[in-house]
Formats: sequence, structure tokens, C-alpha cells
Amino acid sequence: MSWDDLSKNKMKWPAVSEVHRYRKQVYEAVSNLISNLTDEQCANGITQDSPLWSLAMSFEHERIHLETSSVLLSEMPIEHVKFPANFPAYHPTANDNSIEKNPIAGQHYPINEMITVSSQKVTLGKARDYPSFGWDNEYGRRDYQVPEFKASKFLITNGEYLEFVRDGGYGNPDYWTDVGWKFRAFRNVKWPSFWMRKGPQGLHHFDLRLIFDEVPMKWSWPVVVNYHEAEAYAKWKSVKTGQKYRVMTELEHNAIRNPKQVSSSSSLSLL
Ligand SMILES: [Fe+2]
Repeated sequence: MSWDDLSKNKMKWPAVSEVHRYRKQVYEAVSNLISNLTDEQCANGITQDSPLWSLAMSFEHERIHLETSSVLLSEMPIEHVKFPANFPAYHPTANDNSIEKNPIAGQHYPINEMITVSSQKVTLGKARDYPSFGWDNEYGRRDYQVPEFKASKFLITNGEYLEFVRDGGYGNPDYWTDVGWKFRAFRNVKWPSFWMRKGPQGLHHFDLRLIFDEVPMKWSWPVVVNYHEAEAYAKWKSVKTGQKYRVMTELEHNAIRNPKQVSSSSSLSLL
């Protein structure tokens, strides 16, 4: 991704032999820790002063690897990947083999409505003595008053996003931020990464790439796009409707996760 800032930094990497030495040290430290575990150490949760903290960090780190690797695996040529034994099954609707080339809102994907979320206090951050693992940037505490806003009831679906694609959303720089348009042009992106084109380009017929399989498009599933694409969709929606849509903020996301506040909504993306 040469358009972003990752390639600007000239990093100095350690020699392979140094990496091996370090890995050996860590392996021994962690193995010792596991073999000498006592029940008392595990009794009251794990706080930062516990040697077990390093294990909890490893578990959490591994979960992050699974998440990022699931994207990398989805980008691999399909003939090089295989659904692993013991891997959690796809959602059952993945097995629905019906093909809908021209999805209709309300029939093949839900009509999304905007739900008002009232102004409320949101507290971010975690206490130092919280008895489970946290990354260093999760600590501290800050209270916010989040103003009233509206959020879409559902995550934006593939079906809704197709409306943007069909309307030439990927060809109009007006919908994109400068950095978003650079990403779009650099990759020559014309639709979401995991939509697999079927037939001539202008027809907009797609299958859907899952991590290990390709299936007929699921128009009611949430669309998988990056932040630039989400921003462009919101801008397009604003232009089309005359109302101001945008990607929701972290604070707003926390607000809708408050079960007292919104009972019917799932997570989502637009104001
Ligand atoms: Fe890692």
C-alpha cells in the first residue's frame, strides 16, 4: 500500500539470529510460567502485577492475528485455501445457493431506518486494577456528553452498497476524501474487495468471497469495506438524500452499545 505512510519509515530490523535468540528466551520464560502455575495465581482474575499477564496478552494478541489473518486469507487465491477442520462454521445462510442478480430493498435486503439515540454520558477507559487484560492505550478515564444523533438500525448491507456501486460511486471523486480517492485510484477499486465479479463488468453481478469459499452474493449481509469506502458511501448518501450522513464516531458507537439506551438496534455506521 504505497499510498499510505507505512513505507515512509526506514526501519532497522534485527538479524535473524537475534530474533531466534529472543524467541528462545521468551519461549523458556512462558513455558516456565505455565509449568509453575498455582491455583491461587488464577483465583482472582489477572491484573497487571501478575506474571500471568503475559499469557493473557498472548491470548489477546492471537485473537488479533486471527482477525487480521482472516482478511489476508480472504485475499488469497481460492485454490490455495481450504476450510480447516474445527474452524467455526459460516453463518447458516452462507449455504443458501439462490442467486439474485438484481436485489430489491425490502425483499432481498432489509430497508434500513434511522433510529434516534438521545444525548447521554459515555465513559471511555479502564481502571488500572481491572481484573483482565488491557492494552496500554485502554487505560485512563474520560467522560463525555454525546449529543443526540441518529444511527442506522442495521449495518449497511451489500444490497444497500450495491446502490452506491451502480450509481457510479467508485468513479466520482466528489464522494471521496483526498486520501480515499488515492487509495481508490492506486488499487483501481471499483467495488468492495470481496465481491467477485461474475460476467461483464457493467452488469454488476457478483459472488461473495468468504475466507475459504466463494458463494452466491448475500445481499442482506453487512458489506465489508474499508474506512475510505464507508466515508464515500456516506457522502454519496448525503448527496442523494439531501441529509447529512457520516460514519459514526467511537463515542456514538459506545452510546448505541448501552443496552438501556437502544433496545432494537444492532451496531451500525451512519448518522
Ligand atoms: Fe503480532
